[in-house]
Amino acid sequence: MQAEATAPGKAILFGEHSVVYRGPAIVLAVDKKGKVIAEKRDNDNRIYFDALDLGFSGYFDGDKYTSITGADWRGERLVAFMIAAKKTMENFDIESGLNIKIRSDIPIAAGLGSSAALSVATVGAVGELFGGLSKEEICNIAYEGEKVVHGNPSGIDNNISTYGGVLVYEKGKELQRVKLGEDFPFIIGDSKRKRSTKKLVRRVRDLRDRQPELIDGIIDNIARISVQGLEALKDGDFRTLGDLMNVNHGLLSALGVSIAKLDTMVHASRGSGAYGAKLTGAGGGGCMMAIADAQNIRSIEKAIWRCRSIPHVVNIAHEGVQIRRIE
Ligand code: MEV
Repeated sequence: MQAEATAPGKAILFGEHSVVYRGPAIVLAVDKKGKVIAEKRDNDNRIYFDALDLGFSGYFDGDKYTSITGADWRGERLVAFMIAAKKTMENFDIESGLNIKIRSDIPIAAGLGSSAALSVATVGAVGELFGGLSKEEICNIAYEGEKVVHGNPSGIDNNISTYGGVLVYEKGKELQRVKLGEDFPFIIGDSKRKRSTKKLVRRVRDLRDRQPELIDGIIDNIARISVQGLEALKDGDFRTLGDLMNVNHGLLSALGVSIAKLDTMVHASRGSGAYGAKLTGAGGGGCMMAIADAQNIRSIEKAIWRCRSIPHVVNIAHEGVQIRRIE
């Protein structure tokens, strides 16, 4: 028996970085997905990964990675999923070998939650092999794996990949699902600069250690934007949403997580008719997002191409993790 799970990536509309400390963030699941197909191995406890559309495959024997295709260092990208798979089996008190196939159309290390989507899908698929898990269990186990690899993440990424839709996420508080009157078009621009969320979160923490009052003020203002943004989102008030995105981008720049290329993309989008544009995710490269009336999306797409970046017109993914058995 094989089990397959898919989980969506995400775009943070408001509240990245501030959510690590306090206050809410608003996050949208996007219709770019990670897919995992898992099956048990009978003869050993190795965990094999086939990530061949990313150009690599290999296996873990314990914690040691051996490459089959691609350089050894590429195995680092798989550690989170190996841990997610092991923690899932621990949950059932089982030790088994696994074959895991990973496929994803979410750009990697770009702030769109590819790692959490694949962790959630790994837990979902492996869990299904041993009897199945609730969404809450999937989310919690995926978070345990994310913590080992990504330092001290807020938990926003594994929650949105598990539950989908539009969520208000705040550490220690109950998730709030946002009902939109209607979906709105938005566009993501990928700067093609890879970056590490862990390093960027640490950079903000270091800056906060040096300038606590200043940085706490910025964090509180971003949290306030999320609160106002939620109202604007519910009202379908795109002009206000755009203003709030623009201010949020300025505050993220003040935290030191934007780069010149993202700023250029953000300004090019605004100049092509976006209501607002901001970086999304941890920054330092990765992606920006813009919202606009449908008739302006095409010119924003072109503007992003002109910045030598890749536009993705995306929709909200209303479903989170989805699991099926393949007999
Ligand atoms: C990463 O998707 C969002 C950050 O706020 C980090 C986190 O919340 O764990 C930058």
